[in-house]
Amino acid sequence: MLHVISICLVVGTQFVQSLAVIFRLRLENPEQIVGAQWVQYRIYKFIYYPILIIAIITGFYLAIVTNAFSQGKWLHWKLVLLVILIGFGFLNGRQINDKDLPKPFAMFVHIGIFCVAAVMIYLVKVRPF
Ligand code: HEM
Repeated sequence: MLHVISICLVVGTQFVQSLAVIFRLRLENPEQIVGAQWVQYRIYKFIYYPILIIAIITGFYLAIVTNAFSQGKWLHWKLVLLVILIGFGFLNGRQINDKDLPKPFAMFVHIGIFCVAAVMIYLVKVRPF
């Protein structure tokens, strides 16, 4: 239960945070921009990172108690995608305070988060190999 709640929050936070970075590019008032960056950076530091750690710990706990590492390769590929997802989360954190952020780069991170998370959920639910 804790794994499911934490992964929902991790993926949900990443999705909305990367979308908010794109929305911020439309703001023109400097005070609004600073306010949006302040809110986003606090979510990034005090919600995203702690919940990511809980997702990883509960994931490894599940993997050990269900002996999942010896039941096919799906979990290995899920971990490869987890590294990519963490990379996207890191890029998103950098983009929060980037004043000259190109919109296509912000879109790339947002779409990347969606696609990688979708494949991870597919792997764990369907277990194709
Ligand atoms: C943010 C990254 C992660 C996402 C999005 C994610 C996603 C999911 C999802 C959707 C499920 C299915 C839950 C259910 O419906 O029963 C699941 C289960 C599972 N996860 Fe993760 N997970 C993540 C991180 C991890 C990590 C780091 C591990 C550690 C190796 C892990 C190991 C497992 C295992 C073993 C199960 C299956 C447990 C069972 O047999 O029912 N997960 N994960």
